[in-house]
Amino acid sequence: MIKEKTLRIGFIGCGKMAQALAKGFIASGITRSENIIGSSPRIDSMFIEEFSAIGCSTTHENAQVVEQADVIIVATKPPLVPKVLTEINPVVNSDNLIVSIAMGIPLINLEQVCVSQSWHCQVSLDAAKENKSHPCNAKYACTVLVRSGASVFSCGTSTRSEDATLTKRLFTAVGLCEEVPEVLIDACTGLSGSGPAYMYIAMEALADGGVKMGIPRDLAYKLSAQTLIGAAKMVLETGRHPGALKDDVCSPAGSTIQAVYFLEKSGFRSSLMEAVQAATLKSKQTGRKE
Ligand SMILES: NC(=O)c1ccc[n+]([C@@H]2O[C@H](COP(=O)([O-])OP(=O)(O)OC[C@H]3O[C@@H](n4cnc5c(N)ncnc54)[C@H](OP(=O)(O)O)[C@@H]3O)[C@@H](O)[C@H]2O)c1
Repeated sequence: MIKEKTLRIGFIGCGKMAQALAKGFIASGITRSENIIGSSPRIDSMFIEEFSAIGCSTTHENAQVVEQADVIIVATKPPLVPKVLTEINPVVNSDNLIVSIAMGIPLINLEQVCVSQSWHCQVSLDAAKENKSHPCNAKYACTVLVRSGASVFSCGTSTRSEDATLTKRLFTAVGLCEEVPEVLIDACTGLSGSGPAYMYIAMEALADGGVKMGIPRDLAYKLSAQTLIGAAKMVLETGRHPGALKDDVCSPAGSTIQAVYFLEKSGFRSSLMEAVQAATLKSKQTGRKE
């Protein structure tokens, strides 16, 4: 088991997401900045400078990241992922855990890179396609991260339970993190990955309603944002059903139940349900194209 503080984390790609995660890992104490390394191939990359400013090591060589890290987080744009995995595959060993944070790339595609390097892993593509366990050296997990501080992950065929534990510890350091079957990753993207957009629309619309009723615009935005925070905290902190919390704030013949009736009549619930469904289906289609 790798000890916290000495956990060596490498980022392939040290852009916005890598920097946000590195800062979160350091702030949570899960490791120190000197145990983090990030790569970017471009000599004039501004990301390299920004990553060093956090106190982490940097390199232009992806292989060096693998050599100096226990956990390798692949944080390039999705189309580059197969290329960088092929590049690092010869230096990956069975102790490395590779976590991809790229949107829409299924584990099978990550593992195929390893499988297709026959000099490295003597396994057939068919075995991987059938999702059978195989002697592939690389252990993969893929993660869906959202800006609101939540993530879900799924583990590949070669991972062990301690890899799932480590992935969860890592991403819990930067927010809520849960392991899910890969089949649910797209639905989690549809709910939580795209969810902030739905909530921004809700906030804007609530504020518009307030402005319509005479509240100054600035105050209306503050009140609508705080209302969402307050409601979300109540759900997370009390663990009570959202419906029960809603019942608590609807007094008989009061103004809230009048508004709830209006929301029900105008299809508020089904709009949100269909939004999640639409984003899930789109995420599935995107994944298949990778
Ligand atoms: N941004 C988000 O909110 C968000 C949320 C969830 C998930 N994600 C996922 O996180 C990943 C990274 O997104 P981002 O917004 O952080 O992108 P980004 O800021 O553009 O960073 C991408 C990094 O990859 C580097 N890179 C390019 N080619 C490379 C190569 N061949 N080898 C190694 N590194 C290379 C880039 O370096 P140079 O540009 O300096 O060449 C840059 O450091 C994406 O796959 C995305 O789907 C992002």
